[in-house]
Amino acid sequence: MNRFTYLYLLLAVFFIHACSTTNTTEQDDQDREVAEQDQRPYQEEIDSLMAEMTLEEKIGQLNLLSSGFTETGPTLQDDYQDMIADGNMGGIFNGFTVEHTRDLQRIAVEETRLGIPLIFGFDVIHGYQTIFPVPIGETATWEPDLIKEASQVAAEEAAAAGVHWTFAPMLDVSPDPRWGRIVESAGEDPLLNEIFGEARVKGFEGDDLKDLNTILSTAKHYIAYSEAEGGRDYNTVDISERMLREIHLPPFRAALDAGAGTVMTAFNEYDGVPATGNQFLFNDILRGELGFEGFVVTDYTAIPEMIEHGVAADEADAAELAMNANVDMDMQSINYVEELPGLIEEGKISEDQVDQAVERILRKKFKLGLFEDPYRYSDYDREEETIMRDDFLELALDISKRSIVLMKNEDQTLPLSREEVNDIAVIGPLADNQYDLLGSWSAAGEYEDNITLLEGIRNNVEDNTNITYAEGTELEFEDYTTDGIEEAVEIAEDADVAVVAVGEGRHMSGEAASRVSLDLPGAQEELLEAVHETGTPVVMVLMSGRPMTINWAEENVPAIMNTWFLGTKAGEAIAQVMFGDYNPAGKLPVTYPRHTGMSPYYYNHKNTGRPMDPDERYTSKYIDEENSPLYPFGFGLSYTTFGYDNIQLGSDEISKDGTVEVSVEVTNTGDYTGEEVVQLYTRKMVASVTRPVKELRDFEKIELDPGETRTVTFDLDAEQLYYYDKDMEYGIEPGEVRVFVGTNSEEVLEDSFTVR
Ligand code: BGC
Repeated sequence: MNRFTYLYLLLAVFFIHACSTTNTTEQDDQDREVAEQDQRPYQEEIDSLMAEMTLEEKIGQLNLLSSGFTETGPTLQDDYQDMIADGNMGGIFNGFTVEHTRDLQRIAVEETRLGIPLIFGFDVIHGYQTIFPVPIGETATWEPDLIKEASQVAAEEAAAAGVHWTFAPMLDVSPDPRWGRIVESAGEDPLLNEIFGEARVKGFEGDDLKDLNTILSTAKHYIAYSEAEGGRDYNTVDISERMLREIHLPPFRAALDAGAGTVMTAFNEYDGVPATGNQFLFNDILRGELGFEGFVVTDYTAIPEMIEHGVAADEADAAELAMNANVDMDMQSINYVEELPGLIEEGKISEDQVDQAVERILRKKFKLGLFEDPYRYSDYDREEETIMRDDFLELALDISKRSIVLMKNEDQTLPLSREEVNDIAVIGPLADNQYDLLGSWSAAGEYEDNITLLEGIRNNVEDNTNITYAEGTELEFEDYTTDGIEEAVEIAEDADVAVVAVGEGRHMSGEAASRVSLDLPGAQEELLEAVHETGTPVVMVLMSGRPMTINWAEENVPAIMNTWFLGTKAGEAIAQVMFGDYNPAGKLPVTYPRHTGMSPYYYNHKNTGRPMDPDERYTSKYIDEENSPLYPFGFGLSYTTFGYDNIQLGSDEISKDGTVEVSVEVTNTGDYTGEEVVQLYTRKMVASVTRPVKELRDFEKIELDPGETRTVTFDLDAEQLYYYDKDMEYGIEPGEVRVFVGTNSEEVLEDSFTVR
């Protein structure tokens, strides 16, 4: 090749390369534009609106305040009215009903210079007015599709009553039953929180936020709030980055992938920095790694709370921290309105930062269609037609039945026979109690709508069945009386069966409801013991928002139904299960410890160097209590029984991106048709970091007729087993993986395979 030929070739290669580069670059630009348009719609509208906004008006958009509450509903306070009129308000929460939201929206639209509509937020957690079981109870169905429907219903009702935005789902993986907010979670397992979080987000937001039956959702509380030391709400959290990424982040990732439009900051600190000012959590992980484009709202007054945390000297300092962490909207503290103008003047915060936050909030308002018609969610006719529709109530009843977990059923005490049981004593402070059935957070739920257990039983027996009732004692930690126990004993003595409803009041779990004891409050156990003493068979109906140490009952009472707080249709659902119209199939999404002192207590713990051995003192255990759970994670009985047999693996070796088929035969070995949640767990036996003794990987709910056998097959991808190794690399190291399949986390068949 001579010099010229070489030069020619070189030029040709350069030319071809240059052409293709130009083409790809153009294509890339176009793709980017389309992607941006997808992710950042309404940019032109937002830009032109913002061009007209003063700094004060912009900061106003970052302000979210609660409208006041009275027993009868939301009230409008004068100063809020003025703040809205002055353009100092971007949104209102706890404002609901068409009438109330129209009132407020009118001020924003008609009395402010630019007429920017307000966004209305509300804690629609397990229903708006048709109240479904509390989230931990909904999770006990192990039926995410059904809970997606429940969220759809909640969204439809809320959206018909002027609400645009719910502060749900809560995604806090909750290992500690002392922490009251465990009731709002999907329990202690990351996968359940992931799957149910995703289902709830899809239910709330639907396919298009503009649809009038959808609302904006909030992934909360970001992040690790449930790890509060001692289970004490708002307390310090100190966890590793590994735990953050493996346990707490996956549900948020899933919720954002499902389309959650907003994220709420948590009250707690992470690695010494309160979440609300934590740049690592928000800038690096949420916006950086997870690519979140929606807006971040603080939890209630979380910005100034950074002063108490001791990382901000004053309100201005706190505002600066929050803004620098890209926290967009300030809930309830008016801190941004008061502090941002000064911070900008001093050059500590740029107007550009404020612009970004405003843009993110306005984009959601556009997406909700509020600029087209600010009153579109507040329609009197739609509110009237939608709230508590018959089909919604039916769904609530169905989900309530499916949430019930049968904890014990000695000698087939249940189901009760309508023919044979002629005299029922209904006893306990939760037996004829409408109020507590609502559970924690009940939005616009009205307790008068709830069907109590007593009413449910009355509705479900033959006319000649005799039903008596005694409260027995009160639902109090202190100041309770035992005077009513005698009456309860008297009616139990004459009855064929005594149904005793005990547990917690609705405010004994939930926010700021941490407990040092998981025992039944007050004299309820005394009541239970006295009724049991009569010799009449007892069916205990437990209502609570958390695991409870009901050891005495487990040992002595023949039948126990765990019913959480089931909401509007509670009593009807419990009665139908009690009389066998529905065969219970709920499974626990949390472990029940034997003693409060064992908390936090969860099935997916590590093995330690000295795993618990009841016969060896120097192993990891307590010396004054049995160390096994009272009820394990995934536990729940049925009126029928199931047998597991013949676990099979498709191969005994797979690659790091391979899949192994796991199958098992499940047989209905009892007398009733029933549903069973078949659960798949794994354990990585050796890794460069310690791994949990079991991790839930998949599950399937099946229905079998008596005598029927079904082979259940799971495709287990190696990718589902990935973790962070000692260098924080995400993947899987070679070695043995043990596989467990069974009816709960303890009763399992096992096998193993190797990852190459
Ligand atoms: C809770 C949040 C809730 C907010 C608004 C806070 O106290 O932590 O979960 O969304 O109040 O009601």
